[in-house]
Amino acid sequence: MKKLRYGQIGGTLNAFIGAVHRKAIAIDEMCTLAAGCFSSTHPEANDECGAHYGISPDRIYPDYRTMAESEAARTEDRLDFVVICTPNCTHYEIAKAFMEKGFHVACEKPLCFTSEQAARLRDLAQKKNLLTCVTYTYTGYNMVKLARQIISEGRIGRILDVKGEYLQDWLLDKAGDHTEKESTLSVWRMNPEFSGISNCVGDIGTHIEETVSYITGLHVRRLSAVLDTFSQELDLNANILVEFDSGAHGCFSCSQIAAGHYNGLVIRIFGTSGAIEWEQEHPDFLKVTLKGEPTQILTRAAHTWGHAADLNRIPSGHPEGLTMAFANIYREFAGAVISGRPGDYPTVEDGLRGVKFIEACVKSSKNGGTWVEI
Ligand SMILES: NC(=O)c1ccc[n+]([C@@H]2O[C@H](COP(=O)([O-])OP(=O)(O)OC[C@H]3O[C@@H](n4cnc5c(N)ncnc54)[C@H](O)[C@@H]3O)[C@@H](O)[C@H]2O)c1
Repeated sequence: MKKLRYGQIGGTLNAFIGAVHRKAIAIDEMCTLAAGCFSSTHPEANDECGAHYGISPDRIYPDYRTMAESEAARTEDRLDFVVICTPNCTHYEIAKAFMEKGFHVACEKPLCFTSEQAARLRDLAQKKNLLTCVTYTYTGYNMVKLARQIISEGRIGRILDVKGEYLQDWLLDKAGDHTEKESTLSVWRMNPEFSGISNCVGDIGTHIEETVSYITGLHVRRLSAVLDTFSQELDLNANILVEFDSGAHGCFSCSQIAAGHYNGLVIRIFGTSGAIEWEQEHPDFLKVTLKGEPTQILTRAAHTWGHAADLNRIPSGHPEGLTMAFANIYREFAGAVISGRPGDYPTVEDGLRGVKFIEACVKSSKNGGTWVEI
């Protein structure tokens, strides 16, 4: 089968998520990295990354605009899609530049700074008939897909309540009055110029919203949020009461100052006939309780069925993880690029909803936690 060609923007060898994308895309051997602008400010790091992946020097670009122009002019070996792994502030302009040239786009979350920008990207994709993927990673996990299936089969009944949390502690030093050594992680997240109107909700709260909506099919209709900045410019902690379009309520909580927590995304869904719980740090297991029965722990590959089973790569007991969740998203996205048929991956619509969620949280918190419609 002919391999797709993709280009990447952002993701030098020392960056965080760009490398995860490349490794994940490589897993199914459906796509080849053919061009890139991995950094626009560090030419050596840009060249080093391109050379590491054997990219022809004439396809390693100093900036994304040159890349979009030059790649659009190619015919025989034109890119099939691009992958954007740069800080939030650049997503809109980069996505727009490539979409205007007719490229399918996969972009990191949050999709962009404002819901107006997100709506423009959605409209552009529709106008140009382009596929878009927004890499809400956690929707790629098999057991998240199984949770979605179990709920869609009605096994836990009507959803009464949802608890979602995503807890980290890497910015704890920023909340206290002591400063220990600087975190090596990407601290641009705390700077509104790079991050946008929110740090914590924009970085991890948005994952709760998307994962819950993917699993349950429910969308947040309105919310009441209290964001804590601890004297920083942007939030480091948030407690969010949500109301879904079904009328059910839920509670989302995200934090970067929760000592002892790393990537603690936990989703608990309570229905009229049972409950489901999934933890990102133990992703191969799904806790299912049917009313009146003992709790069951379902194990990936041993107890998966349907679409979740199709995505099992290795036997049960060998842990899959974050990279494989990304790979599942890219398998679906690349499949859609090849076939032209829809796939099971988050799109610009999810990206738009995510930006609206972030905006509503910030607005509510600024108004003392009042309810804000989405
Ligand atoms: N889906 C997830 O689970 C997940 C996880 C981590 C990060 N992210 C998102 O990924 C994005 C990147 O985050 P990160 O932690 O990898 O950041 P990072 O700082 O580690 O890497 C950013 C990269 O972008 C490059 N870059 C910056 N501006 C550029 C430009 N104009 N042109 C080309 N390259 C440019 C930098 O050189 C660097 O290589 C963010 O939007 C973040 O929210 C998503």
